[in-house]
Amino acid sequence: MASQKLLDLIIEAMKDERHDRKKYKLMMEMTKSDLVRNQIRFAYIDEGIHYKMFRQIYFELTGKWIDVVRPPVKLAPTLIGNVKTSIDGELAAVEMYREIRSMLTLRSQRDRLFRIITDEQEHATRFVYVYSILK
Ligand SMILES: [Fe+2]
Ligand SMILES: [Fe+2]
Repeated sequence: MASQKLLDLIIEAMKDERHDRKKYKLMMEMTKSDLVRNQIRFAYIDEGIHYKMFRQIYFELTGKWIDVVRPPVKLAPTLIGNVKTSIDGELAAVEMYREIRSMLTLRSQRDRLFRIITDEQEHATRFVYVYSILK
């Protein structure tokens, strides 16, 4: 049986994934630079994949398919301001997903979390790169 703590964290993760995907979509509209937009697009695409992966894991643990409401996105006025909060957000996601991974027991679920965690680390690196272009 999956603990309520684990299920709550997965729901939190699903909300964060939906939030970030919307945020990155809006950020892509804040730049005329193809180079910058393409970097953000990597994360935008991945967050959609991550949402589906967490949804699938939740189903495997509970037998229930759920969806979550996307939390509102509060944008900073400048793109670079949003890039900064995105770096923090990606690094916080890595911390939370490590905790989720530690609570999973099935090899296939732990492997999927490993993939998501390394994706988030890659996003943080890409946003640091974007930050260096913009500043
Ligand atoms: Fe993600
Ligand atoms: Fe991400």
